[in-house]
Amino acid sequence: MEKLMIRGGIPLRGTVQISGAKNSAVALLPAAILAESTVTLDNLPHLSDVAVYSDILQELGGTVTWNGDTIVIDPSAMKSIPMPNGKVKLLRASYYLMGAMLGRFGEATIGLPGGCNFEPRPIDQHIKGFEALGAQVTNDHGSVRIVAKELRGAKIYLDVVSVGATINIMLAASRAKGSTIIENAAKEPEIIDVATLLNAMGAKIKGAGTETIRIEGVDSLHGCRHSIIPDRIQAGTYMIAAAATRGDILIDNVIPKHMEAMTAKLQEMGVHVYEMDESIRIVGQPHYEAIDVKALVYPGFATDLQSPMTSLLTQAQGVSILSDYVYSSRFKHVPELTRMGASIRVEGRSAIVEGGPLTAAKVRAADLRAGAALVVAALTIPDGVTEITGVEYIDRGYDNLVDNLRMLGADVWREQE
Ligand code: EPU
Repeated sequence: MEKLMIRGGIPLRGTVQISGAKNSAVALLPAAILAESTVTLDNLPHLSDVAVYSDILQELGGTVTWNGDTIVIDPSAMKSIPMPNGKVKLLRASYYLMGAMLGRFGEATIGLPGGCNFEPRPIDQHIKGFEALGAQVTNDHGSVRIVAKELRGAKIYLDVVSVGATINIMLAASRAKGSTIIENAAKEPEIIDVATLLNAMGAKIKGAGTETIRIEGVDSLHGCRHSIIPDRIQAGTYMIAAAATRGDILIDNVIPKHMEAMTAKLQEMGVHVYEMDESIRIVGQPHYEAIDVKALVYPGFATDLQSPMTSLLTQAQGVSILSDYVYSSRFKHVPELTRMGASIRVEGRSAIVEGGPLTAAKVRAADLRAGAALVVAALTIPDGVTEITGVEYIDRGYDNLVDNLRMLGADVWREQE
């Protein structure tokens, strides 16, 4: 196992390129299962979750070829193979195999998903959707077994706004007979990205990005070529890191519209943010105001940026309150930040942060975004070296993190634990 070593206190300067979005990639890869000819995906991030998904597609009988950040998937010879254990347990997003395999083969047996378990993450809305489409869902020794003689379109109201359930239902419903309407659908950019791919494969999906999505089922889907949207969470993390170190960086290959909530909150603190067509410049300032942040579903402030934002708010003057209305207890970064000298207390679904300097410490990333929070915190500390273990979580979501930070002038390296 490796650990991340950071000697902070250096304002980040320079340009960073953002890779394709993890949370799109892990839905687009299984979506390729639905096609009957070759799907090419460009702008794929180099992340452990993507590598695991590529292996899963091969285990199902697909042919997968990599060329830089392009992947070519030939799903024509894929078979419906039960996947109770193994690689599916490494990923949260293995649940997308359910919708994709159900759509293509009429059945799927998938072990309950793994991934970042910062709190219980049920999949009842996914199951509700599959059942509404006419599938029978049973628990088969800890795996979810889903079978449908015929998938029929249905009207599905999601009780909780869920990214995963919205995408999973879109995947299965693209091959159902008749029309499906998803009400109270999630509106994240990743949902639009998946709908764009499916439509390029021949699906008939309208309304992705709004709360009502209409899907007219088709008999078959074909291959296509698609470029993945930039990763708004990686981009947001670099925005935060630049502000926290009082740096001045250009973040390239972003869609500024996806960053609106982040931009607004940084500006409210006093960070200077300049938006261009496909890039954002962040100019840090010596003093920041304390602010309140509410993590909400898109277009609200992303829950995935709540943890790194907590670290930035330790650099503001006064008391800030961060509340997470997507996950009520996503605060595994807080005890570690406290070890670094932060003054933070958790009350219900809120973290109350009192600004003040941090000190270097040995800390552990308990999940992906908690890890990002520790990296941001460490980058602000001028004396000593912070050691972060649990790097395998950070590698799930940040493409090329160490090289990118070094190019921005940070003193960061990896060591064996
Ligand atoms: N929920 C239910 N029932 C369900 C599904 C969700 O109660 O059937 C609840 C969840 O417990 C949560 C809320 O609904 O409170 C939203 O969950 P959602 O389903 O939207 O989350 P997800 O699809 O499992 C994706 C991202 C997460 C991100 C969330 C919220 C992927 C692979 N993961 O998860 O990303 O936090 O949406 O935006 O797309 C990360 O990248 O670090 C990460 C955890």
